[in-house]
Amino acid sequence: MKKILVLNGPNLNLLGQREPEQYGRETLADVERMCREEGAKHGIEIDCRQSNWEGQLIDWIHEAGREIKAGNMIGVVFNPGAYTHTSIALHDAIKGAEAIVIELHISNVHARESFRHHSFISPAARGIVVGLGTKGYGVAIEALTRLYPAQ
Ligand code: DQA
Repeated sequence: MKKILVLNGPNLNLLGQREPEQYGRETLADVERMCREEGAKHGIEIDCRQSNWEGQLIDWIHEAGREIKAGNMIGVVFNPGAYTHTSIALHDAIKGAEAIVIELHISNVHARESFRHHSFISPAARGIVVGLGTKGYGVAIEALTRLYPAQ
């Protein structure tokens, strides 16, 4: 069974308690359960990971690039949190590993502070899901299965 990696960056372990007016009341465990259910509909295994550490996220993007090349993974749904707006290293990791990445934001970053309007990740991503709340994760998983149907 092919896999999708659902990768969440800094502070997303606080989902449910963190600024619920922005990010909703669902916890990361709720979101990960919903992702696994969406994956099951498409016959895809969902690997869910979260880290507050930039270097750990980089290592997992590299691993995903290798898994995609090996034909075991179709892509990554990646919410880089605030690293979106700061991390050239994550941009370089996606490009360097040739990882297929859908960038995702729960909130509509373009309707928020101007420092959230620029993303270093977007130029390296295949597509972007923004502002659909936690439902966006399911949308992004479905998008990957449509773009890269499992053989
Ligand atoms: C976020 C938006 C970012 O600006 C913020 O730093 C986050 C979450 C989102 O999912 O809406 O941590 O990526």
